[in-house]
Amino acid sequence: MKGFKHLPGPTSYPFIGNLLGYKAPGVGRSPSQTPHIWKYFNQQFGPLVRLDMPGNNPMVLVFDPNLAEQVYRNEGVYPIRPGFDSLGYIRSRLKETGGNEGLITSSGGKWREFRNKVQYSVLHPKVRETYLTTVHEIGMEFADHIQQNLKNGEDATQEFYKWALETIVAISLETRLNCFHPSQQDSVNTQVLSLMKEIFHGCKNLDVGAKLWRYFPSKTFRKLERDIELFTQITNQMIHKAIQKEKENKLQNTLLGNLFSRGCDEITMTVLATDLIFGGVEQVAHAVMFSLYLLGVNPDKQEILHNELTRTQNPNYLKAVVKETMRLYPPAVVNIRELRVPLELGEYSLEPGTVYILAHQIMSRNPEYIREPEQFIPERWMRESSQKEELPPFLTLPFGWGPRSCIGRRFSEMEIFSMISILASRFQIGWEGEAPLRIKSEIVIFPEGELSSTSRRDNNLKVKHSSENIFFKIKSLNKQTLLNFFIKEYQNRIENGRKAP
Ligand code: HEM
Repeated sequence: MKGFKHLPGPTSYPFIGNLLGYKAPGVGRSPSQTPHIWKYFNQQFGPLVRLDMPGNNPMVLVFDPNLAEQVYRNEGVYPIRPGFDSLGYIRSRLKETGGNEGLITSSGGKWREFRNKVQYSVLHPKVRETYLTTVHEIGMEFADHIQQNLKNGEDATQEFYKWALETIVAISLETRLNCFHPSQQDSVNTQVLSLMKEIFHGCKNLDVGAKLWRYFPSKTFRKLERDIELFTQITNQMIHKAIQKEKENKLQNTLLGNLFSRGCDEITMTVLATDLIFGGVEQVAHAVMFSLYLLGVNPDKQEILHNELTRTQNPNYLKAVVKETMRLYPPAVVNIRELRVPLELGEYSLEPGTVYILAHQIMSRNPEYIREPEQFIPERWMRESSQKEELPPFLTLPFGWGPRSCIGRRFSEMEIFSMISILASRFQIGWEGEAPLRIKSEIVIFPEGELSSTSRRDNNLKVKHSSENIFFKIKSLNKQTLLNFFIKEYQNRIENGRKAP
């Protein structure tokens, strides 16, 4: 068997390996172009590609769903997902966290202990059910807001982030920020969103290469430290207020109430809430924006969805639309595992400590595994459709896999289904820009450019995305039917214990 050094990969230079970064023809070497560069590597080198980063563990890109399955199946009881080292390091030293890193960055027994403490409450259907109406009401407020308030020159991306923030804060902190209210435009929501952006950006800069900030804290490191501390303090203050409500017995069946009744303390709730906000804002907002783009460029599919939403109580097409969106544009472009065991993968024998970058977005568009991969065909996910496909189970995994998979999956599905059903029933969604949509990545992927300005024409609300436009043309409005549809779907699911789509 061959070893790591025999794997094909981009040219690696003595001492510095690939430290100068990677590049591909036509897209250059900017880290924001990573998905395009990796696609090129897959075409050039095949299903397994070596990346050489001196000072880091050996890294292998995996582009084959069957090989990805082998990696996941060897992850053990404490799966390790490397990344966000600087975030974990700083959080573990904060007074407000009591040395607790939380879910996103911790590993081993510490991760398991924290996940065990919180997972029952986060995943419990009864807890989720408590938020159905709130999630839907926030969605309706968002739709009213963009219809009434978006003006020329305003950034609509920001509005989607505000919606996702409003929702996750309502769930995790029992607090309404009222992000869409004009008087709240410069308040805590803007501060939280800008802190999150700064934190993601800081982590991205500090987590590549040799992590010397542990010994020589740089200016960027100090700034990240201040941002994380402030973010945690804001969350902590909200938790503190919410716990007062709990003491007055007002939080029954809520997430915090459930955590409280299971003996979780204020620190655990603060750490969990920051995790849920970190995990739950950008990805959910991007999933909705990508769905709108795909519905905009596929009016025939939009029509089917609209008909389903307005005439039937059957949500299958909605689920398939979201699934197909996540295949084409999974908000997390890759998943990562570090294995503690040796692994024989294809014709290679790899050492313990190897880091595997599981490139699901690229596999999910490979014609070897899926028919017409670049086409938006929700029907391929529908059992009753003649276009239904049997796909490799480890091909498209937008929420990850196994015990370490996304803890917010059920909440995010609730939010995304609600928002798409509201927008697709209420507006005709159009797209006036370049297709296919260009994406770039900064830990998560997002549309390139900004949804930066809007204009109203007659009954059309037009949201401009740099040179691209998603426009919403008002179609119909039946708040009660939609709410019934939404609640019925979830009640069915909860009663039948059905699996996610
Ligand atoms: C479209 C929306 C979302 C996508 C695509 C997504 C995707 C992911 C992925 C791929 C992972 C890594 C899983 C693995 O390692 O196998 C993850 C982890 C995580 N997600 Fe999500 N997520 C989404 C929404 C959310 C929401 C709404 C929340 C919070 C309510 C959340 C909280 C988390 C947390 C805390 C983790 C770390 C779990 C752990 O390591 O134990 N995510 N997510």
